[in-house]
Amino acid sequence: MPVTTCIFDAYGTLFDVAAAARIAAAEPQAGALATHWPQLAENWRRKQLEYSWLRAMMGAHCDFWQVTQDGLDWALEAEGLTDPALRERLLQLYWELAAYPEVPDMLAALKSKGLNTAILSNGSPDMLQGAVGSAGLGDLLDDLLSVESVGIFKPARAVYDLVGQRFGCAPSEVLFVSSNGWDAAAAAGYGFTTAWVNRSGAPMDRLPAKPTMVLPDLSGIAALDIY
Ligand code: LAC
Repeated sequence: MPVTTCIFDAYGTLFDVAAAARIAAAEPQAGALATHWPQLAENWRRKQLEYSWLRAMMGAHCDFWQVTQDGLDWALEAEGLTDPALRERLLQLYWELAAYPEVPDMLAALKSKGLNTAILSNGSPDMLQGAVGSAGLGDLLDDLLSVESVGIFKPARAVYDLVGQRFGCAPSEVLFVSSNGWDAAAAAGYGFTTAWVNRSGAPMDRLPAKPTMVLPDLSGIAALDIY
């Protein structure tokens, strides 16, 4: 069945999650962040995701803004960074993350083909509105689907169910795009055609399903022979 519906993960896929630490590190008040930012960014992301998976298993859901703050607090402490103003600045930057440069043209090309486009993300609706609004992508996306409507984080199958519920399509009509190897693997196991965007050349995750394709960035999405 041809693909009718293109669904994107948000954080790390459309939006550059390392940008918050990188930008704050270049500001005059950065202090020790200037040298600690790569480790801070890595730990922040890792803890944010670990907390999302652990809370899903524990039946202790909270929204993604909470795990984003909790992950940041762990990462700041690990680097010995204690300035409350730095914490606030990093969270502010996370709220308005930049999209990767190829994103607007890629989404516009999909819309010009008449395809459905949406985000499916752990992010809470207000976080997603903030990021999409500041990146100017609002007109290029038909919907922002958030895990908050099912109260559990990815990769719970109930999250992937949201796509068919919203667009009335079968899993085989969906292209799901994620830079998170575990998210791409889970979506492939669910039955979506799946593109793993592997910008860093990371090894393939050893999980029960493999993505349909691996791409270096998002620029080739609209030219795929699947629509
Ligand atoms: C998201 C996380 C997984 O946007 O990056 O859902």
